[in-house]
Amino acid sequence: MQIFIDSADAKELSVLAQTGLVDGVTTNPSLVAKAGRDFFETLKDICASVSGPVSAEVVAQDAETMLAEGRKLRTVADNIVVKLPLTPEGLKACKVFEEEGVPTNVTLCFSAVQALLAAKAGATFVSPFLGRLDDNGADGMELIREIRAIYDNYGFTTQILAASIRTANHVKDAALAGADCATIPPAVFKSLYKHILTDVGLEAFLKDWRATGQSIL
Ligand code: E4P
Repeated sequence: MQIFIDSADAKELSVLAQTGLVDGVTTNPSLVAKAGRDFFETLKDICASVSGPVSAEVVAQDAETMLAEGRKLRTVADNIVVKLPLTPEGLKACKVFEEEGVPTNVTLCFSAVQALLAAKAGATFVSPFLGRLDDNGADGMELIREIRAIYDNYGFTTQILAASIRTANHVKDAALAGADCATIPPAVFKSLYKHILTDVGLEAFLKDWRATGQSIL
């Protein structure tokens, strides 16, 4: 499963990219507002440290303006993926971008039939929002399983990008459900390394090693 980071904090992303584990980035208008910098400068900085797909979202609501915004966003770098809302106009723009070979991420997906439409529109990625479904008393992970089954039934190549991830367990369950990628907030990404037995075990190994009085280098 590919790991994307869900953030518009270019500085933090450049540090995380040094782990060698970051396959891509997703941003959205709320994350850009939180980062508090110029959108285009932010995207330029992110693309300088991450060579994988970097999703940048349009804010227009009609297909024609979405296409214009998407084309402008694509001038930043070749790895920009145009993020489009799962609306009739968003999917219209998606279809045009597919014909032009422009990669897209169809966002705000909350149902399997929406994901079916995104695949038919030729989306490169579809983003089902797990956490927001869970927040509203639904089962976000069940949605991933349904989309996986539908895409496999028909051989759709649209990649399932599990989004709105809240916990390390969400990452594990999305991987088990067959999501192609997960976009993960920085804090959750850092928590993936953690296990108490790793810390305790390492401490014991180092203590025992010190007692040998030896050195490797
Ligand atoms: C995905 O592309 C979105 O940016 C994101 O995952 C939304 O997550 P949230 O529900 O935590 O805002």
